[in-house]
Amino acid sequence: MIFEIANTGASVMVVAALVSLAFLLPERDGWLTNEAHKTQRFLVMTSGFWILAAIGNFLATLARIFDSPINEVLKANVIRSFATQITLGRLLTFQIVMALLVSILSSRVKKNDGALWLLIAALAGVLAPVFQSHSSALGSHGLAIGSLVIHVLGLSFWIGSVSSLLLMSTEARARAFTRVSTIALWSSTAVVLSGAMNAWTRLRISQDWFTSYGALIALKITLTIAVLVVASLIRKSISVDRLLPFEVSVLFAIMSIGAILNRFTPVEEVSGSFDKTRELVGISMPDAPTLSRVFFEYEANGLILGLLIFVTALYIRGVVALSRRGVKWPVGRTISFAIGISLLDYATSGGLGLYAHFSFQYHMMAHMVLSMIAPIAIILSAPITLALRTLPIGRDKDERGIRGLLLSFLHSKPTALWTHPIIALAIFDGSLFALYFTPLFGELMSSHFGHMVMDLHFIGAGLLFFHVIVGIDPNPRRVHHLVRVVMLLAAMSIHAFFSVALMSANSLIDGGYYALLERPWATDLLSDQKVGAAIGWAMGEIPIVVALIATFIQWMRSDAREASRADKRSAVDLAEYNEYLRKLSSREDK
Ligand code: HEM
Repeated sequence: MIFEIANTGASVMVVAALVSLAFLLPERDGWLTNEAHKTQRFLVMTSGFWILAAIGNFLATLARIFDSPINEVLKANVIRSFATQITLGRLLTFQIVMALLVSILSSRVKKNDGALWLLIAALAGVLAPVFQSHSSALGSHGLAIGSLVIHVLGLSFWIGSVSSLLLMSTEARARAFTRVSTIALWSSTAVVLSGAMNAWTRLRISQDWFTSYGALIALKITLTIAVLVVASLIRKSISVDRLLPFEVSVLFAIMSIGAILNRFTPVEEVSGSFDKTRELVGISMPDAPTLSRVFFEYEANGLILGLLIFVTALYIRGVVALSRRGVKWPVGRTISFAIGISLLDYATSGGLGLYAHFSFQYHMMAHMVLSMIAPIAIILSAPITLALRTLPIGRDKDERGIRGLLLSFLHSKPTALWTHPIIALAIFDGSLFALYFTPLFGELMSSHFGHMVMDLHFIGAGLLFFHVIVGIDPNPRRVHHLVRVVMLLAAMSIHAFFSVALMSANSLIDGGYYALLERPWATDLLSDQKVGAAIGWAMGEIPIVVALIATFIQWMRSDAREASRADKRSAVDLAEYNEYLRKLSSREDK
């Protein structure tokens, strides 16, 4: 237990320092000021401690799996096979590597951006093992794991931002206060909602409340309420110096209870036969798909659902902020956003998302919705424009603010690279071949983490491609309409070629994943694969044709705008010329 608490505690302290250096402490002339020295030293110290705690946690987890004392698992071959062959071992090793990376680079953090990249690395290390944490007693694996990932992400920012205030001078603390309140508000909301969702998947309400697990959860809830009350007092500036350390220590106490909570998980009575599919996919085998099941079943994918709720909350916040300024945001864009988000939810947690785990043809339908159809709706809702018009700006010339951060991201070299038409097309279509004609597809389908990475890739590749083609948001790289048309025609033919190649494949491409599931319906796996390829072809071409029409309309409109601009310019020129001729003729008359 001590290693779990130390590991979670150390990682949260590292995140605290990095959140402070990335978002809370200002730069002067492009460099962090002396005010950051204490936090930089704290980062060096805690990241070193994190390496040790992460290694200890790795060994303690291994010893727990073998149900033996730590010294008995200290054998090179045992450690090597756990670190390389077991998913949990691999993820814990990844965590140690991230702790090492953060520690090595910690003394070189001199700018907000440097801290931001290290923060991303640290969070990847913190979250990786959570994807392989124990499954839920009752609810779906997807919901249990997804909500726990959001829980850990939220608590890292909550504890991180609040405790970073303890490292600051009074002046810097006063300056960072509002921003910490905003971060704490959003992250504490995420922690409470995800904690409740997670407890719901793990607790049998009628029975488990009276177990040590239930009691610990009840204690956590009570302490969370207490800490929220203290936080509201601090926000009213009531004895900040005394209450802040108290708030931070209660948060660390709750964190410690959380870190060991899974040790007390109520033992699940295994009713009936062993459910292999549930072990493999995290969901029991659904009955054969019918129209109503495909339309109305719901199996929440906790993480993607959490992400969709978060971006929807941000979008609504933006629209409300604009309307408070008396600026009307086009309703069509909000509707387009709502359609896009609903489609993403349907293809990840709805009936389509559910059957996509069990049949290739439904997988391909979900893939097409995630990468082709939903992204067009999201792109046409202009989320970047809304963000740039409503995100908070810096408080003075030295501070960039979240809006500045987004702008520097949009103008950054990596963004210029991936918005290049050829790169965007390669990611969009090239990844089809990389995924389906290599063992990667079977690998990713076989783990919850892999499946989620695949879904996020589909969404990301689609958003990028259609942003470059039909995006109405600002794009530093201006792509000519002709190039966009060529890209779409290229995408169309590559997609057709891919679908035909897949339809004519006479061997399965899933590396035995679907066979392992022993699906009692649609048992002909090869025909399921061929039908999937055909569906992919049909569903893929339609959005491209829609984008083609939209591009031609945008082209005609921009030409019309250009023509009217040219007309206006020549009208002005003509007027000036006439004025010149008039002056000339009046001079000659004199
Ligand atoms: C409404 C309040 C909360 C509820 C209902 C709640 C519930 C839960 C549940 C059900 C788990 C999963 C335990 C398991 O693996 O079986 C969990 C894990 C955890 N919770 Fe909470 N929690 C709450 C608030 C918090 C707060 C405020 C913190 C820290 C400040 C926190 C820190 C943690 C940690 C560190 C874990 C372990 C994550 C891991 O497995 O890596 N929780 N919580």
